[in-house]
Amino acid sequence: MIFVTGGAGFIGANFVLDWLAHCDEPVLNLDLLTYAGNLENLARLAGDARHVFVQGDICDAALLARLFARHQPRAVAHFAAESHVDRSILGPGEFVRANIEGTFCLLEAARAYWARLPAAEARAFRFHHVSTDEVYGSLRPEAPPFTEQSPHAPNSPYSASKAASDHLARAWHRTYGLPVTISHCSNNYGPFQFPEKLIPFMILAALADRPLPLYGDGAQARDWLHVSDHCAAIRRILVAGQAGETYDIGGASERTNQEVVRHICALLDRLRPRADGRSHAERIVHVTDRPGHDRRYAIEAGKITRELGWQPAETFASGLEKTVRWYLDHPEWIANAQSGAYREWIARQYGTTA
Ligand code: NAD
Ligand code: TYD
Repeated sequence: MIFVTGGAGFIGANFVLDWLAHCDEPVLNLDLLTYAGNLENLARLAGDARHVFVQGDICDAALLARLFARHQPRAVAHFAAESHVDRSILGPGEFVRANIEGTFCLLEAARAYWARLPAAEARAFRFHHVSTDEVYGSLRPEAPPFTEQSPHAPNSPYSASKAASDHLARAWHRTYGLPVTISHCSNNYGPFQFPEKLIPFMILAALADRPLPLYGDGAQARDWLHVSDHCAAIRRILVAGQAGETYDIGGASERTNQEVVRHICALLDRLRPRADGRSHAERIVHVTDRPGHDRRYAIEAGKITRELGWQPAETFASGLEKTVRWYLDHPEWIANAQSGAYREWIARQYGTTA
């Protein structure tokens, strides 16, 4: 079986669903169910014996030791993290705990388990650490995209905590020989993304006739990848990735935030026009910028394409239309995700209610 952490969150849940749609190898899924974890994302697996869910903390060393001993996984896919930059600015402590201490505890538990495996199983074992392109910092407009050789230069508490966890994962390979792989992926979007992140946030705000708040001038650029393509890349790394290697994953779809929000508005103008006949884009407003806001991320994903044969299946246009349609088709999921905690967050961050 494989051991997934954070498998009730956005990417983790998509990964678990994708994994079990492609093979019958069972998944042990450990998730603390923070505000971002949602078992509804995995409702399709109800009664499926291939999915074993445990609610718990990656910082709980005794729990981790028990899970490794009982389930004897052949690989770990480590998604669990605090993942939202704006939350990290308001409360960095939880990011240090979950992302740094949590990764440390998981690496230690994996190392203790791996050290006792028979030689062939130990060689085949993998610990895949899911990281982000944000650890590389901010690119100047004319700079070439990030590669695996780009130095870590994180600017937010979130990216700093992810960078620290990358360093731990790398060191556990170099020092102890643990067969670690690391991936740095660009911004994901798709079904089940918690509506604090740009794309679902803007879809939901437009549907509720609320303002669409672009931070600063809205000219910050991100590279966007549909979550199904990220899941396929991680599946590929777990099969063919080389221990000790890092793989950058991206969609070659660099867009400014302004472009992304206008694209969403154009889709909604077609799929869910406003009652007054005006464009959703008329609700775009510019608000105070995020402190330390990274201006640009872009990823050169040539290594994983060359070495592992991965490339994205979705374009930004196809993936974004599917995503907008998914949110339109899942009002119950949205209502449940917009819990009390979510409403409090919106009030704190934007000074309005959801
Ligand atoms: P998410 O916030 O939607 O989900 C994170 C999940 O981790 C949640 O289910 C949460 O309950 C769980 N979790 C948090 N702390 C935990 C703990 N201490 N113990 C156990 N579970 C815990 O995040 P996401 O967007 O799905 O991101 C998943 C991973 O991918 C993260 O490591 C993130 O850094 C990385 N990543 C995200 C993106 C993106 O665009 N979202 C891009 C690149 C990399
Ligand atoms: P986000 O989805 O939080 O991802 P990240 O900060 O990890 O890239 O934000 C994506 C971009 O959108 C980022 O430049 C911040 C910007 N943004 C806004 O302009 N307004 C918003 O309301 C949100 C949530 C994000």
